Amino acid sequence: MPKILSSEQVDAFRRDGYVFPIRAISAADAADCRRRIEAFEATSGGPLHGGLRHKTHLLFPFLADLVRNPVILDAVEDLYGPDLLCWTTNFFIKEAATPSFVSWHQDSTYWGLSTPDVVTAWVAFTPATSANGAMQFIPGTHLHDQIPHRDTFDKDNLLTRGQEVMVDVDGAKAVTITLGAGEMSLHHVRLVHGSPPNHSADRRIGLAIRYIPTHVRPIAGADSATLVRGVDAFGHFEPEPRPAIDMDPALVEFHHRVTTRNARILYRGTAVRSYDDEGAVGRR
Ligand code: NI
Repeated sequence: MPKILSSEQVDAFRRDGYVFPIRAISAADAADCRRRIEAFEATSGGPLHGGLRHKTHLLFPFLADLVRNPVILDAVEDLYGPDLLCWTTNFFIKEAATPSFVSWHQDSTYWGLSTPDVVTAWVAFTPATSANGAMQFIPGTHLHDQIPHRDTFDKDNLLTRGQEVMVDVDGAKAVTITLGAGEMSLHHVRLVHGSPPNHSADRRIGLAIRYIPTHVRPIAGADSATLVRGVDAFGHFEPEPRPAIDMDPALVEFHHRVTTRNARILYRGTAVRSYDDEGAVGRR
């Protein structure tokens, strides 16, 4: 018996490549997450940027707790079993009335993982609506193999390389993933998805938490991950410590090292050397 998802939701994930909405945290807790991130932004010179948007759960205890949230983990366990790593987290923040978008892509393209057993829990800190650039999914596309992508490095594209699938996507089949604050969607690493700009008067903030079962291996260089449930009998990833305080100095150093290494995997074959270099090629 699944722990959180219904059998129908598990079947839907297998058939369509996604399931939503699922209540992960309360709307009040989502508002609190937003407040904490914005309090940090207020003292650090503006919107989260560069490496701070990635593996941010290594820098803030409240996000370390979120990636270990039992409701989220129960749902992921329903799909991928009881031994789970959080491989990374990525903030997707679209400022009010800005052109930032995400092109149609499969997450699996540059991640350097051995199998497509990867699921994203996308947790909404603000509501996600068609007006503010909610994600769109093309149902069933996770059943395709890896599709070739081209890099665009479009400055308004929130993806690392501005990558997009090299096939025509039938936008008429797209499903808009509308979420309330504190709700999440779960999507498969091969699902074709994207998102349009935020035309609304407020920011749209979501945290994408990437989970893998412990048997998945890094295949493009050493990488790290956080064991969040069960046991890791494989040890394919360098274990990650948990922050005790916001911007814990020991963790800031660790975070910089592992995100720089991870960025080299994601940007392999390009001139970009770290998330903080993104600006050098016109990236956010
Ligand atoms: Ni994606």
